Amino acid sequence: MSTDLTAAEAAARIKDLTARIAQANEDYHRRDAPTISDADYDALKRELAALEVAFPDLKQDNSPSDQVGAAPAEGFGKVMHRQRMMSLENAFSDSDVADFATRIRSFLNLPADAPLNFTAEPKIDGLSLSLRYEGGRLVQAATRGDGTVGENVTANARTIADIPETLLPGAPDVLEVRGEVYMTHADFARLNDTGPRTFANPRNAAAGSLRQIDPAITAARPLRFFAYAWGELSAPLADTQAGAVARLAEFGFQTNPLMQLCDGTDAMLAVWTGIEQQRATLGYDIDGVVYKVDDLSYQARLGFRSTTPRWALAHKFPAELAWTRLEAIDIQVGRTGALSPVARLQPVTVGGVVVSNATLHNEDYIAGRDNTGAPIRDTDIRPGDWVQVYRAGDVIPKIAAVDQSQRTSSAPYQFPDHCPACGSEAIREPGDSVRRCTGGLACPAQAVEKLKHFVSRAAFDIEGLGAKQIEMFFADDTLPIREPADIFTLAARDKANLSRLKNRDGFGERSAEKLFAAIEERRAIPLTRLIFALGIRHVGEVAAATLARHFGDLPTLIAAMDAAAPAAERHIAADEAVAAERAQAAAQNRRARIAETRDRIWSDPPLPAAARAAWDDLTGIDGLGAVLAQSLVTAFHQPTERVVIDRLIAQLNVLPAEAPAAQDSPVAGQTIVFTGSLEKMTRAEAKARAEALGAKVAGSVSAKTDLVVAGPGAGSKAKKAEDLGIRIIDEDEWLAIAAT
Ligand code: IVH
Repeated sequence: MSTDLTAAEAAARIKDLTARIAQANEDYHRRDAPTISDADYDALKRELAALEVAFPDLKQDNSPSDQVGAAPAEGFGKVMHRQRMMSLENAFSDSDVADFATRIRSFLNLPADAPLNFTAEPKIDGLSLSLRYEGGRLVQAATRGDGTVGENVTANARTIADIPETLLPGAPDVLEVRGEVYMTHADFARLNDTGPRTFANPRNAAAGSLRQIDPAITAARPLRFFAYAWGELSAPLADTQAGAVARLAEFGFQTNPLMQLCDGTDAMLAVWTGIEQQRATLGYDIDGVVYKVDDLSYQARLGFRSTTPRWALAHKFPAELAWTRLEAIDIQVGRTGALSPVARLQPVTVGGVVVSNATLHNEDYIAGRDNTGAPIRDTDIRPGDWVQVYRAGDVIPKIAAVDQSQRTSSAPYQFPDHCPACGSEAIREPGDSVRRCTGGLACPAQAVEKLKHFVSRAAFDIEGLGAKQIEMFFADDTLPIREPADIFTLAARDKANLSRLKNRDGFGERSAEKLFAAIEERRAIPLTRLIFALGIRHVGEVAAATLARHFGDLPTLIAAMDAAAPAAERHIAADEAVAAERAQAAAQNRRARIAETRDRIWSDPPLPAAARAAWDDLTGIDGLGAVLAQSLVTAFHQPTERVVIDRLIAQLNVLPAEAPAAQDSPVAGQTIVFTGSLEKMTRAEAKARAEALGAKVAGSVSAKTDLVVAGPGAGSKAKKAEDLGIRIIDEDEWLAIAAT
């Protein structure tokens, strides 16, 4: 870059550039709010460097040019929660609450007349925070994050008046207090009137204020905190939930004054109604009532599902409603090819949030039927209709009703039978509730959605590579990402390219390097995440974790998939033959004929024993089943999908599944089958306990079973175990193990 400035002009320009770069650095790194594009930032730096070359005497000592990659305090540190931060199961109706109480009684095997108390308290609409105290002093504060790893916001939490720096006497040495950070309506209104930006609602304002890189900004924001739960403790707080919360109040925390004790469903529902009536005048946002089993020894027995405790329930307040016009029905194509209709609405405010889209589920829903053909509404939905939209919590808005008197369209909506993205035929298989594009990975919409899923939070979770960037790279011709493996060759391909990523709009040296580093960091990936990331139909996060635990490492998983492939083909063939049989066979003898057909297909020609064994092992994994097994094995077996998986794996270092939680338990790593009736522990509790001890629970006995717990009435499973020489124990022996 040449320059024809005088020395005085150059000095002024250098000063100006230095100030602007410093401001941009500040905005980017400390305020989390960039004010100029990376390209503009790079241009400023280039101009400064050129002037410094032309006028070496004017170069300042601490010039930004010398701060290579100048990246001061970046984001927040990560905190691994010692006990996971859970979310809550939601309920929307009185019967959900009654079911909750019934489920708990049955899990614990409590007679209907045994006392069972619950606490009921407002569900605060803020963001959860975990505070760690050691020796009575606050040592760490962390956001929930994904429940396992959160952000370290200790400096910010210290600025919140409701969060004590030191606890009043009597607290255990180690105490993790959990609760909700929130903002009152009055403080929110004041902040929006006077503050730097307008937040959509108090929850966003609270989250935006807590997650500030600069604690001085958090300090200036009126945040509050209610304590309602705990994590790690060096000594128990009390015997009951209510008692434990009372102790938190003694240590100096704010606890919600509306909490009440309930002796059953009727009392819980009465508290819910009472709190709902106070909702508008409380002065802060709540979105429901949380019920918790009061007896902490019951809570311990009930334990947790994958992301929620069995002993708590969030009973949400009803949805908010508004009328608007349905402008159009768009069809989106998902990663498994499902054609999902989306309502494009004239924007309308529903409960403080502007809504312009709503889900329409599938063609039956538009037609006004559920998937059994039963009516769910008095009419179908047509573009141009006036529709009533409702929102409940964070749920995607839905359509509650249609005003037929204002209808303008004379014909029902015609659902497309071809994929709008690739033109392939879209087929609805018998038993499936949606129509699916048959284009597979050749369909650009499916491919791009699969990629978005691949980088999503519970999958590869690559910083700087979200849905928006995936769309950009997918459409790009010089540096494309068309399948997962392409992500991991991106940096190498970029180096070999003439048009480098850093020179593009929206990118610069810093953001390109940051992206490559984030990708590199994910090359080593836990098996669970990889399985989930593949986006195989029916394989969600829970199934992925179960599969990873069952197979342990990637080579074992792949070998099992390869071994089971011939059996999966039989399974498909048998299903097809049975469907054909059903359509034809006369009513009598139907069942026998169907069973015969199934048997014939499985046995003729004979299936290698290894294939059968691999299939039985897979379908025997508790909670998975044949539908998932078939989908999984097919994904690994179908040549077009398999090459994509193989190319990806070649780029990765797949980490084996973590060892079971309780490694020192006598049943860690073992496969247990429960059969017959258990008398002292329900089947559900036994299963949960076995899993907590690091065992796998299977539904059927096979050569891989290590232990069978047989209660009275155990039949063929116990017999099979005996034949296979597997250890069989009774309930008392199991209770002795479970007590470890
Ligand atoms: S108890 C293990 N109590 O709701 C259970 N949560 O939707 C821990 N929340 O992540 C949660 N008010 O952030 C509990 N009174 C309350 C709550 C509450 C709000 C939040 C919490 C949780 C989320 C789940």
